[in-house]
Amino acid sequence: MLQTINLESHLDEISIQGWSVLPVPLKLAEQLAKLATERFKQNIFKHAALTESISPIADIRNDKILWLDAKNFTLEQSEVLILNQLELLKTSLQNYFRIHLSELECHYAVYEPGHFYQRHVDATQANNKRIFSFVIYLNENWQAEDGGQLIAYDNEQVLFKILPSAGQMILFKSTLEHEVVTTAQTRLSLTGWFRK
Ligand code: OGA
Ligand code: MN
Repeated sequence: MLQTINLESHLDEISIQGWSVLPVPLKLAEQLAKLATERFKQNIFKHAALTESISPIADIRNDKILWLDAKNFTLEQSEVLILNQLELLKTSLQNYFRIHLSELECHYAVYEPGHFYQRHVDATQANNKRIFSFVIYLNENWQAEDGGQLIAYDNEQVLFKILPSAGQMILFKSTLEHEVVTTAQTRLSLTGWFRK
């Protein structure tokens, strides 16, 4: 996945502007979407817990998640593949930014119609170990009217706004403020963090 692209230019973008959009093969996104859907049907996804609950959780986010962890279930080939690619990316981030990243954590997320995630940062005071966030989108043929955009902010200014379309992953500094707009369609992703 990532070795075929000029990763250096994406790392430069993260360094300069705090975020970058990287390509992901559609075939891989398709396989992961299929697995996410199958696993979701098994009722093993859970409501995400917030590290700092300042109001009832459903007010802030209402997606359901499943941690991608060999302890939870047997990983399929495409899941092992993406985890290996993300480990390579972790090494590149460490080398480029000259920091130590001890861990990669990631989960599937399913937003059903009407679901959203209000403006927040991933690196909170209670969970400040998250350095880089990423979201691999798994939705083919997503349209603007389907909603579910990811919007990032620099104070009141919109930094970027992207559709959760398959074929791309967004990588950004975990200190960036962002939100997921209410989705009108079932929205699938693989979301994670590189932690220090
Ligand atoms: C998150 C998040 C963004 C997205 O899970 O913390 O902000 O586009 N996700 O799914
Ligand atoms: Mn987030």
